[in-house]
Amino acid sequence: LEIPSASRQLKIDSHGPDDTRSLGVALGRLAAPGDVFALYGGLGAGKTCLALGALEGAGVTSGGRSPTFTLINEHQGRLPVYHMDAYRLDGPADLADLGADEYLYGDGLTLVEWADRVEAALPERRLEIRIIAADASGAEVGRDRRAIGLLARGERYAALLDALAGEWSGP
Ligand SMILES: Nc1ncnc2c1ncn2[C@@H]1O[C@H](COP(=O)(O)OP(=O)(O)OP(=O)(O)O)[C@@H](O)[C@H]1O
Ligand SMILES: [Mg+2]
Repeated sequence: LEIPSASRQLKIDSHGPDDTRSLGVALGRLAAPGDVFALYGGLGAGKTCLALGALEGAGVTSGGRSPTFTLINEHQGRLPVYHMDAYRLDGPADLADLGADEYLYGDGLTLVEWADRVEAALPERRLEIRIIAADASGAEVGRDRRAIGLLARGERYAALLDALAGEWSGP
Protein backbone atom coordinates (compact mmCIF):
# COMPACT_ATOMS: atom_id res chain seq x y z
CA LEU A 1 0.00 0.00 0.00
CA GLU A 2 1.36 3.38 -1.00
CA ILE A 3 1.01 6.03 1.66
CA PRO A 4 -0.23 9.33 0.20
CA SER A 5 2.38 12.06 0.55
CA ALA A 6 0.78 13.95 3.39
CA SER A 7 0.67 11.68 6.37
CA ARG A 8 0.56 12.67 9.98
CA GLN A 9 0.21 10.70 13.18
CA LEU A 10 -1.01 11.26 16.70
CA LYS A 11 -0.92 8.95 19.69
CA ILE A 12 -3.38 9.36 22.51
CA ASP A 13 -3.67 7.61 25.87
CA SER A 14 -7.27 6.84 26.76
CA HIS A 15 -7.95 6.26 30.44
CA GLY A 16 -11.43 4.84 29.99
CA PRO A 17 -14.49 4.64 27.73
CA ASP A 18 -15.36 8.31 28.32
CA ASP A 19 -12.00 9.41 26.88
CA THR A 20 -12.40 7.18 23.85
CA ARG A 21 -15.94 8.37 23.28
CA SER A 22 -15.00 12.05 23.61
CA LEU A 23 -12.21 11.60 21.06
CA GLY A 24 -14.87 10.10 18.79
CA VAL A 25 -17.15 13.09 19.40
CA ALA A 26 -14.36 15.50 18.43
CA LEU A 27 -13.57 13.54 15.27
CA GLY A 28 -17.28 13.42 14.40
CA ARG A 29 -17.55 17.20 14.78
CA LEU A 30 -14.72 17.63 12.30
CA ALA A 31 -16.09 15.09 9.79
CA ALA A 32 -16.80 16.27 6.26
CA PRO A 33 -18.73 14.61 3.41
CA GLY A 34 -16.73 11.75 1.93
CA ASP A 35 -14.60 11.12 5.00
CA VAL A 36 -13.63 7.53 5.83
CA PHE A 37 -12.53 6.59 9.35
CA ALA A 38 -11.04 3.07 9.45
CA LEU A 39 -11.10 1.51 12.92
CA TYR A 40 -8.57 -1.17 13.88
CA GLY A 41 -8.31 -3.13 17.12
CA GLY A 42 -9.19 -6.52 18.57
CA LEU A 43 -12.32 -7.75 20.32
CA GLY A 44 -13.47 -5.26 22.92
CA ALA A 45 -10.77 -2.73 22.04
CA GLY A 46 -13.27 0.15 21.94
CA LYS A 47 -14.00 0.58 18.23
CA THR A 48 -17.76 0.82 18.72
CA CYS A 49 -17.25 3.12 21.71
CA LEU A 50 -15.30 5.57 19.54
CA ALA A 51 -17.67 5.15 16.59
CA LEU A 52 -20.73 5.98 18.72
CA GLY A 53 -18.92 9.12 19.86
CA ALA A 54 -18.31 10.02 16.22
CA LEU A 55 -22.03 9.57 15.50
CA GLU A 56 -22.80 11.99 18.31
CA GLY A 57 -20.20 14.47 17.08
CA ALA A 58 -21.67 14.27 13.58
CA GLY A 59 -25.06 15.22 14.99
CA VAL A 60 -26.77 11.83 15.03
CA THR A 61 -29.14 12.04 17.98
CA SER A 62 -30.53 8.52 18.31
CA GLY A 63 -30.28 4.92 17.26
CA GLY A 64 -26.54 4.39 17.62
CA ARG A 65 -25.65 0.74 18.16
CA SER A 66 -23.10 -1.76 16.95
CA PRO A 67 -23.63 -2.94 13.34
CA THR A 68 -22.05 -6.34 14.05
CA PHE A 69 -25.13 -8.19 12.77
CA THR A 70 -26.55 -5.62 10.35
CA LEU A 71 -23.13 -4.95 8.73
CA ILE A 72 -24.11 -1.38 7.83
CA ASN A 73 -26.19 1.13 9.82
CA GLU A 74 -27.21 4.33 8.06
CA HIS A 75 -27.80 7.47 10.10
CA GLN A 76 -28.65 11.05 9.29
CA GLY A 77 -27.01 13.77 11.34
CA ARG A 78 -25.33 16.99 10.21
CA LEU A 79 -24.30 14.71 7.35
CA PRO A 80 -25.11 11.08 6.53
CA VAL A 81 -23.12 8.64 8.65
CA TYR A 82 -22.56 5.07 7.51
CA HIS A 83 -21.38 2.77 10.28
CA MET A 84 -20.03 -0.58 9.08
CA ASP A 85 -18.65 -3.60 10.90
CA ALA A 86 -16.53 -5.97 8.82
CA TYR A 87 -16.14 -8.57 11.58
CA ARG A 88 -18.47 -11.05 9.88
CA LEU A 89 -17.06 -10.49 6.39
CA ASP A 90 -14.52 -12.85 4.85
CA GLY A 91 -12.57 -10.21 3.00
CA PRO A 92 -12.52 -7.15 0.73
CA ALA A 93 -14.66 -8.81 -1.97
CA ASP A 94 -17.50 -9.20 0.56
CA LEU A 95 -17.44 -5.48 1.22
CA ALA A 96 -17.56 -4.69 -2.47
CA ASP A 97 -20.51 -7.11 -2.83
CA LEU A 98 -22.42 -5.09 -0.23
CA GLY A 99 -22.18 -2.07 -2.52
CA ALA A 100 -19.89 -0.37 -0.03
CA ASP A 101 -18.36 1.93 -2.65
CA GLU A 102 -21.63 3.87 -2.67
CA TYR A 103 -20.88 4.72 0.94
CA LEU A 104 -17.09 4.92 0.84
CA TYR A 105 -17.06 7.32 -2.11
CA GLY A 106 -20.36 8.98 -1.21
CA ASP A 107 -21.55 12.11 0.53
CA GLY A 108 -21.31 11.05 4.13
CA LEU A 109 -18.92 9.98 6.86
CA THR A 110 -18.15 6.25 6.73
CA LEU A 111 -16.95 4.45 9.87
CA VAL A 112 -15.50 0.98 9.30
CA GLU A 113 -14.90 -1.33 12.27
CA TRP A 114 -12.48 -4.24 11.73
CA ALA A 115 -10.91 -2.32 8.86
CA ASP A 116 -8.04 -4.83 8.65
CA ARG A 117 -10.46 -7.47 7.35
CA VAL A 118 -11.41 -5.40 4.30
CA GLU A 119 -8.44 -3.08 3.96
CA ALA A 120 -7.94 -3.66 0.23
CA ALA A 121 -11.50 -2.47 -0.45
CA LEU A 122 -11.01 0.81 1.42
CA PRO A 123 -9.99 4.10 -0.18
CA GLU A 124 -6.26 4.76 0.04
CA ARG A 125 -7.09 8.13 1.57
CA ARG A 126 -8.56 7.59 5.01
CA LEU A 127 -8.11 8.27 8.68
CA GLU A 128 -6.81 5.17 10.41
CA ILE A 129 -7.70 4.78 14.08
CA ARG A 130 -5.90 1.99 15.91
CA ILE A 131 -6.96 1.08 19.44
CA ILE A 132 -4.78 -1.19 21.52
CA ALA A 133 -4.82 -2.24 25.15
CA ALA A 134 -1.48 -0.67 25.99
CA ASP A 135 -0.17 2.80 26.71
CA ALA A 136 1.66 5.03 24.23
CA SER A 137 4.99 3.41 25.11
CA GLY A 138 3.55 0.00 24.20
CA ALA A 139 3.50 -1.30 27.77
CA GLU A 140 0.53 -3.43 28.80
CA VAL A 141 -1.54 -1.43 31.25
CA GLY A 142 -4.71 -1.52 33.32
CA ARG A 143 -8.07 -2.78 32.15
CA ASP A 144 -9.46 0.61 31.10
CA ARG A 145 -6.37 2.00 29.41
CA ARG A 146 -6.06 2.12 25.65
CA ALA A 147 -3.48 3.58 23.30
CA ILE A 148 -5.17 5.18 20.32
CA GLY A 149 -3.09 5.84 17.24
CA LEU A 150 -4.42 8.20 14.57
CA LEU A 151 -2.80 8.06 11.15
CA ALA A 152 -3.80 10.47 8.39
CA ARG A 153 -3.50 8.95 4.95
CA GLY A 154 -3.90 11.95 2.68
CA GLU A 155 -3.90 15.72 3.10
CA ARG A 156 -7.55 15.96 4.05
CA TYR A 157 -6.93 13.85 7.14
CA ALA A 158 -3.67 15.60 8.00
CA ALA A 159 -5.73 18.82 8.12
CA LEU A 160 -8.35 17.05 10.23
CA LEU A 161 -5.70 15.98 12.75
CA ASP A 162 -4.35 19.54 12.83
CA ALA A 163 -7.87 20.77 13.62
CA LEU A 164 -8.34 18.12 16.30
CA ALA A 165 -6.10 20.00 18.71
CA GLY A 166 -8.60 22.87 18.70
CA GLU A 167 -11.60 20.61 19.10
CA TRP A 168 -10.43 18.29 21.84
CA SER A 169 -8.48 19.08 24.97
CA GLY A 170 -7.31 15.48 25.43
CA PRO A 171 -7.93 12.95 28.19
N1 LIG B 1 -10.35 3.26 27.39
C1 LIG B 1 -11.40 2.58 26.89
N2 LIG B 1 -11.88 2.90 25.67
C2 LIG B 1 -12.91 2.21 25.16
N3 LIG B 1 -13.55 1.19 25.76
C3 LIG B 1 -13.09 0.84 26.97
C4 LIG B 1 -12.01 1.51 27.58
N4 LIG B 1 -11.79 0.95 28.79
C5 LIG B 1 -12.68 -0.02 28.93
N5 LIG B 1 -13.48 -0.11 27.85
C6 LIG B 1 -14.54 -1.09 27.68
O1 LIG B 1 -14.17 -1.92 26.60
C7 LIG B 1 -15.32 -2.27 25.87
C8 LIG B 1 -15.16 -1.80 24.43
O2 LIG B 1 -16.25 -2.30 23.73
P1 LIG B 1 -16.51 -1.94 22.21
O3 LIG B 1 -17.79 -2.63 21.86
O4 LIG B 1 -16.42 -0.48 21.98
O5 LIG B 1 -15.28 -2.67 21.51
P2 LIG B 1 -15.12 -3.09 19.99
O6 LIG B 1 -13.71 -2.79 19.64
O7 LIG B 1 -16.18 -2.50 19.16
O8 LIG B 1 -15.29 -4.67 20.11
P3 LIG B 1 -15.91 -5.70 19.04
O9 LIG B 1 -14.85 -5.89 17.99
O10 LIG B 1 -16.09 -6.94 19.85
O11 LIG B 1 -17.16 -5.12 18.49
C9 LIG B 1 -16.52 -1.64 26.56
O12 LIG B 1 -17.06 -2.57 27.45
C10 LIG B 1 -15.88 -0.49 27.31
O13 LIG B 1 -16.60 -0.11 28.46
MG1 LIG C 1 -17.61 -3.19 17.79
